[in-house]
Amino acid sequence: MSLPDTLTISPSVLYFGTPVALVGTADSQGNANISPVSSLWALGQTIVLGLGTTGCALANIREREECTINLPSADLWPKVEAIARTTGSSPVPADKAAMGYVHHTDKFALGGFTPVPSEAVGAPRIAECPLQLECRLSALHGDESRGFVLVDLTVKRVHAHRDIVVGGTHHIDTSRWHPLFFIFREYFGDAHPLGRNFRAGC
Ligand SMILES: Cc1cc2nc3c(=O)[nH]c(=O)nc-3n(C[C@H](O)[C@H](O)[C@H](O)COP(=O)(O)O)c2cc1C
Repeated sequence: MSLPDTLTISPSVLYFGTPVALVGTADSQGNANISPVSSLWALGQTIVLGLGTTGCALANIREREECTINLPSADLWPKVEAIARTTGSSPVPADKAAMGYVHHTDKFALGGFTPVPSEAVGAPRIAECPLQLECRLSALHGDESRGFVLVDLTVKRVHAHRDIVVGGTHHIDTSRWHPLFFIFREYFGDAHPLGRNFRAGC
């Protein structure tokens, strides 16, 4: 059997497919902000984000050392895109201005999202997102000259919409949880189950 033919290519981005998350933050005056991200991973109670150095999210996380990570379901993609071209930073940083970003003070209103107070942190959660994680900053890693840093977070509390939790357990019902994915700058949903890992349900 012949192996697949390959080409050497230089794609402009390497966004091969990760979930979309909405980072909820607040500044010291209590002004809330939402920042869409997709460069993130989770292991144990740790979440690591790749965050641009000029964004409002990083400024707020540096200031308050906390945030929420809200996972939208696939059907929420139009709301995510409604806030995509905006920044909570004012004035708009030069790199974002060059890409057409505009400043917006209330991305909750702009996207039609509802803020909900958190329990363990000051940053708001987003009611419409089925999974909402309250996080504290553990560390910032990396060389800022790359234009981003790695934000190392510890999850303090997890909230899930009741309808995606298996009744009487702490497990997510994967038949009811439909995450939104970002793949080469396009939104995807409708992940189909293929099979179970040997540790599923643990
Ligand atoms: C789906 C999606 C995924 C994104 N992923 C990231 C990301 O992982 N890291 C990042 O810094 N910016 C990411 N961005 C861009 C930020 O959302 C953008 O810089 C925005 O202005 C941040 O808002 P803020 O300046 O108010 O924090 C993403 C945008 C979208 C729409």
